[in-house]
Amino acid sequence: ASDTVYRASTTAPVNIAVVKYWGKRDAKLNLPTNSSLSVTLSQADLRTLTTASCSARYPASEGDSLLLNGEPSDVSGARTQACFRELRSRRAALEAADPSLPKLSTMPLRIVSENNFPTAAGLASSAAGFAAFVRAIANLYELPASPSELSLIARQGSGSACRSLFGGYVAWRMGDKADGSDSMADQVAEASHWPEMRALILVVSAAKKGVSSTSGMQQTVATSGLFQERITKVVPKNMELMEKAIAEKDFPAFAEVTMRDSNSFHATCADTYPPIFYMNDVSKAAIRAVETINANVGRTVAAYTFDAGPNAVIYYLEKDTEAVVGTFYHVIGDTDGWKKDVLKGLKPTMSLD
Ligand code: PMV
Repeated sequence: ASDTVYRASTTAPVNIAVVKYWGKRDAKLNLPTNSSLSVTLSQADLRTLTTASCSARYPASEGDSLLLNGEPSDVSGARTQACFRELRSRRAALEAADPSLPKLSTMPLRIVSENNFPTAAGLASSAAGFAAFVRAIANLYELPASPSELSLIARQGSGSACRSLFGGYVAWRMGDKADGSDSMADQVAEASHWPEMRALILVVSAAKKGVSSTSGMQQTVATSGLFQERITKVVPKNMELMEKAIAEKDFPAFAEVTMRDSNSFHATCADTYPPIFYMNDVSKAAIRAVETINANVGRTVAAYTFDAGPNAVIYYLEKDTEAVVGTFYHVIGDTDGWKKDVLKGLKPTMSLD
């Protein structure tokens, strides 16, 4: 009937890169200057839940809409529009091939999305957000698309979102085609391949980041001399070493590449003109704490990484929980800035699924 409301829901998890995406070779299509690799975190801890619906009875004058954590959110941005357009055109193709299908592609879409973590906490909410957004609409439209195909669409919403369509260990291959048709994600290993992996998130600041990833990347590509070295030499090597470390479940190797790659990314930011600093003194205290923990244990049991903000993500193995999480409180407890603001933000450890 013409008043039918069609509906589909899905969830998508957050991912945290261990080899970072930083730099666009095509800002419109979100094509990266380098490949990247991430670990997808457990949905029990951090995820976006999204419901997409459409109906002929939704007024056309209202157009498409998005309710994010209960608040109306702007959908007119080029990235969001690109996702709507790509999904609609795929649905329209199905409808053209099978005239018995309802014409969902012509109906306004209503998207309702909720995070189970603070959106403004600088916890890569856009990755889970766009991944859930794209999959919810793809499910509603019954598109016969694989996760890699959906990653091509989610990438256009937010680059890192393409990696949240898979669990476990995920690579985003940069590709080399101008239309971006080969710039998509694939799964390097299931979470069950290395189920001992854990991530600890230290919320240094819940404030929204100062320089957006889009403008930070643009400034880095335009003004950093180190950046060329990073994309031509450092990252290709790190991708190779990281895939090997995951295949062999070699934590010290995984940790060294993770920390080196985070440092390299933040070095290119400091090398822009004017410089961009995402880490603050509290972030640096977390780095020192990881170094102290590793030195005290006598082997590498913890690895830090930072995205475009001051919050730390610490990777470690379940068997080293006591040494890492226990000691973290102890080591950073006396550092200014941690006691009041940070320790209460220490989230429980997370498993991967
Ligand atoms: O997906 P974006 O545009 O929010 O960029 C993410 C950039 C980093 O988080 C710093 C690195 C990454 O690979 O996720």
